[in-house]
Amino acid sequence: MKKINIKNWFRPSVLKMQGYVPGEQPKDPRVIKLNTNENPYAPPKAVLDELQTLADDRLRLYPEPTADTLRQALSKVYDWPMDGIVVGNGSDEILNMLFAASVGKGDLIQYPDLTYSLYPVLARIREGKTKEVALTPKYDLPFEKFDPKARLTLFGYPNPPIGNCFPMKNIEAFVKKAKGLVLIDEAYVDFADRHCLPLAKKYPNVLILRTMSKSFSLAGARLGFIFGHPAVVEQLMKVKDSYNVNRMTQAVGLAALRPESLKEVARNVSHIKLERNTLAECLRNIGFSVPDSQANFLLATYSGKPKAEDIYKNLKKRGVLIRYFSHPRLKDSLRITIGTPEQNARLLEELQKLL
Ligand SMILES: Cc1ncc(COP(=O)(O)O)c(C=O)c1O
Repeated sequence: MKKINIKNWFRPSVLKMQGYVPGEQPKDPRVIKLNTNENPYAPPKAVLDELQTLADDRLRLYPEPTADTLRQALSKVYDWPMDGIVVGNGSDEILNMLFAASVGKGDLIQYPDLTYSLYPVLARIREGKTKEVALTPKYDLPFEKFDPKARLTLFGYPNPPIGNCFPMKNIEAFVKKAKGLVLIDEAYVDFADRHCLPLAKKYPNVLILRTMSKSFSLAGARLGFIFGHPAVVEQLMKVKDSYNVNRMTQAVGLAALRPESLKEVARNVSHIKLERNTLAECLRNIGFSVPDSQANFLLATYSGKPKAEDIYKNLKKRGVLIRYFSHPRLKDSLRITIGTPEQNARLLEELQKLL
């Protein structure tokens, strides 16, 4: 196509920025996919059964605009008032709603430097001012370096790409003095020992973000939810698309919350936690340094030769996909999603050949 000048068609901040780069989704189903923190186990059976019943005439109709049936079910399972819950097309969409509702040009947004790399992208789109607080050498977050006056503070619990949880007392001390909103991203919390919902009960500026992409094995369905004070959630509702969660996904979410589904999820989570600890030990035994993780992934650092990036590339050639980030602090590191015991064994076998 011929070259055109788009300079006058878009905001300068968008023209200048890089978009978010998601992990690769290879077409070859034989690839051992340990790169985007998906769950290696099948979704709950009730979800798959429910999906079979959905292919009918009802597809003509719009879904429930605010997904009330699903929010009622979430309210019951998580013991949170329904008017303090919003669901989204993945938790990414909810992050976007939060930025749309709360961040204007020049507002201060802060987050750790290392965390989920979508936060800076959303901040740039909204032309927010950003402050990144470096994690300590042990990957702890020095909360005292955050500005209590920031409009929005975000971090993960557990925090990617390490998978550690910052001490609850440090989080509480910060949210207590924070004047703005604090979004605690609990995408991986079902693999952790604790969660921060009690903090959101106590402090109305705290929002807790969850997803069905990880523990529920439903990344393909795109379903996230957020818990917050009803007055806060009301503002998010105003900026969401009218029918943001489709009919199939709402039904999938409902089926995933049935008691028998929750049991299956809990079983898969406990397998993954066991495997996580085994894999961490095995990686340490072959020379990686691996901080303890409370998520479904590990950050494995290898300071010798071959370089981490070459390990990533060579594993990829051998059909094992993990994640390498270009961040300077991660140049010797690889992020590895916990797979099934067989997948993890294959990863270790290939790694041993490479080292
Ligand atoms: C910390 C964190 N938050 C949110 C998400 C988005 O998840 P989803 O949009 O699939 O709910 C991810 C995805 O990997 C994540 O790592």
